[in-house]
Amino acid sequence: MAKVLVATEKPFSKVAVDGIKEITDAAGYELSLLEKYTEKSQLLAAVADADALIIRSDKVDAEVLDAAPKLKIVVRAGAGYDNIDLEAATAHKVVAMNTPGQNANSVAELVFGLLVFGVRNFFNGTSGTELKGKRLGILAFGNVGRNVARVAKGFDMQVSAYDAYCPADVIEAAGVKAAKSQEELFDTCDIVSLHIPATAETRQSINYDLVKRLKKGGILVNTARKEVIDEAGLLRLMEERPDLKYLTDIKPDSDAEFAARCEGRYFATPKKMGAQTAEANVNAGLAAARQIVDFIEKGITKFQVNK
Ligand code: 3PG
Repeated sequence: MAKVLVATEKPFSKVAVDGIKEITDAAGYELSLLEKYTEKSQLLAAVADADALIIRSDKVDAEVLDAAPKLKIVVRAGAGYDNIDLEAATAHKVVAMNTPGQNANSVAELVFGLLVFGVRNFFNGTSGTELKGKRLGILAFGNVGRNVARVAKGFDMQVSAYDAYCPADVIEAAGVKAAKSQEELFDTCDIVSLHIPATAETRQSINYDLVKRLKKGGILVNTARKEVIDEAGLLRLMEERPDLKYLTDIKPDSDAEFAARCEGRYFATPKKMGAQTAEANVNAGLAAARQIVDFIEKGITKFQVNK
């Protein structure tokens, strides 16, 4: 009997766990849960007899793979898979997958939660501004970026996007102005929302020189990854430009410095909240369980991200 382990430091909603169990029960698999774990040793012990693993932002590196001799597949229930060591997975003959798009609406809605909070001065009682009529720049037009564009139109915002890997005509076909570069996006928008993955190319790419291009009163929103930000550069810029705001769903390493030096203009959620909705948990968690069953029963590798 195949054993599926759900290892989530940040647990899914109960309805998602129940749905995952229904799928694994129907396939005749055993399901075990490791939630809210605090030590890596707990994960290492839990994977010892797992054939399949469902994770969220939980780190799966060579040490975890070494501790899981039976493991055949790991599915990141979500979009970004920078938490899986893909080379090590390939070396261990483990298939790694993600569940693209499943939590995209949830992340997109949070962008607007952060934005309304930001433009209303963190609900401090003073007069703020509206989103209507402002130009929103979306950096990377993937599943989340597209959902952000859709919601932005409901706010009557003007929307631009730049994506190094998505042709301008695809962006324009979605009714969004295609910027020619990320520099142009920052030059022309009142607000820029980040939806790039953390890769060697994007790490620390959101830096002093780029963000400096934002118009007076500009806002940077990050529901992507902390690694894409050059924290020292952004902090220096925000001290020089008291008009700028930074709203993030991923606490920077220098959270305390941002909080102390940019009071009233900086907000970070206490824990990454973008995909923390019952709907996103159900969409991504159940997709992960189905992908595992499809892989074990039929060898389907549609969402494989390692080779
Ligand atoms: C993702 O990459 O899917 C999001 O960042 C959500 O991450 P989470 O599952 O840790 O909430």
